[in-house]
Amino acid sequence: MALGLSAPAIRHTVAAEANGVHPGPLSRAQAFARAATLTELGRQMFFDPALSASGRQACASCHDPKHGFSSASAAPVEMGGPALDRPGQRAVPTLRYLQAVPAFSEHFYDSEDEGDESVDNGPTGGLTWDGRVDRGAEQARIPLLSPFEMANAGPDAVVARLARTAYADAFKAAFGDDIFSRPTDAFDGAVEALGTFEQDAATFYPYSSRYDAFLAGKGTLTAQELHGRALFEDPAKGNCASCHLSEPANDGEPPQFTDFGLIAVAVPRNPAIPANADSAYVDLGVCGPLRTDLKRRDEYCGLFRTPTLRNVALKKNFFHNGFFHTLRDAVAFYASRDSDPGHWYAKNADGSVHRYDDLPQRYWANLNQDPPFGRKPGDKPALDDAEIDDIVAFLNTLTDADQLQQAGQ
Ligand code: HEC
Ligand code: HEC
Repeated sequence: MALGLSAPAIRHTVAAEANGVHPGPLSRAQAFARAATLTELGRQMFFDPALSASGRQACASCHDPKHGFSSASAAPVEMGGPALDRPGQRAVPTLRYLQAVPAFSEHFYDSEDEGDESVDNGPTGGLTWDGRVDRGAEQARIPLLSPFEMANAGPDAVVARLARTAYADAFKAAFGDDIFSRPTDAFDGAVEALGTFEQDAATFYPYSSRYDAFLAGKGTLTAQELHGRALFEDPAKGNCASCHLSEPANDGEPPQFTDFGLIAVAVPRNPAIPANADSAYVDLGVCGPLRTDLKRRDEYCGLFRTPTLRNVALKKNFFHNGFFHTLRDAVAFYASRDSDPGHWYAKNADGSVHRYDDLPQRYWANLNQDPPFGRKPGDKPALDDAEIDDIVAFLNTLTDADQLQQAGQ
């Protein structure tokens, strides 16, 4: 698309204008120009540690562009705060391929869903692991102000820092000479710029993986990768593609490797997250505690948003709590969560297996039990070792070309 700008970026920009960030309706050409300006401002902000209370943490510190904009570190959570000594509570997700995440909704009817639009696919969409915000601009407020992330005392503090940057004049040119004397508008403009940058196609959704080339008929996969893809898609084997969509959509858009559904898979509790030292603390995803609007809704406890698997091979920790450190373990967990729970979960005091040890039993009805899950202890795992290897090989084809170059592969 012209200027590499996406339709959502333009919609967002136009929405921002409607919100009064800039007066007056815009022609399409003006909207493109506006989106380009905001994208460049957002890019500068994204890489600027001066916007944090510590002066040492940018968005990019956690969302590393060399790791698909997820974390470069194997630690399950990052440190933040004014002295960079306050641990986060969740693993850092990738920022690639978020452009198509729909707004959160409790009931989702998908026109792409095997032709049946009457099926309610349940809670779907929204940004963050629990879907609690809908747009990049809204999301950007969280890390800028979170006491364990960039830790600004409030929007005014962000704006004061912004006014001292080298790109302050560009910010004024975009939002008006007096913008820094209007801190609420300035903060709205800042997060709008970050949200617009996150919609930049070349940076965030290049579709340049070997699998994309294969789908376009311009590249091949090895026999092992093809077998891994078949297992990934086979409803009786991996069944992965039932949530991590792997085929182009009806409109030809390449697959996002997620249906954006909010699902409970019962990843083991991660003792390496400091918050988990308190046995009363449980991250229940959609029903809280980080998300607060649905906190009395038991049927939402344990649900997290299905992430894209594009660039997943670059990650150093997996799932919302970063419990797994290798892609192979993450895949093997699906194969034997229910057939060999003792391999994954902690033990009770009496030595018995504490199944689903990060989800209180009263919420177990929320757990997904479709294949590859739903087996009984002692059953054969859904995938054998060679099949797990093949799926991992397939997932390795989902790394974007620029990331392969950076990783020196
Ligand atoms: C200290 C580490 C850290 C910093 C700094 C940080 N983030 Fe994040 N980011 C996270 C974590 C952890 C999550 C998941 C939060 C959750 O689920 O509650 C996240 C989630 C996100 C998401 C949602 C992704 C998704 O899959 O829905 C976006 C977008 C995002 N961050 C953008 C930013 C921007 C923009 C900045 C800078 C203003 C930023 N982040 C700074 C750690 C960080
Ligand atoms: C019923 C829907 C569903 C199915 C089927 C499914 N997944 Fe997932 N997947 C999820 C959800 C939801 C998460 C995030 C869960 C969490 O963090 O608590 C996830 C996370 C992952 C992650 C971690 C990604 C990251 O960024 O940390 C990997 C890897 C993964 N899935 C691979 C697979 C593979 C391989 C299969 C098939 C063997 C599969 N998934 C089947 C829903 C599903």
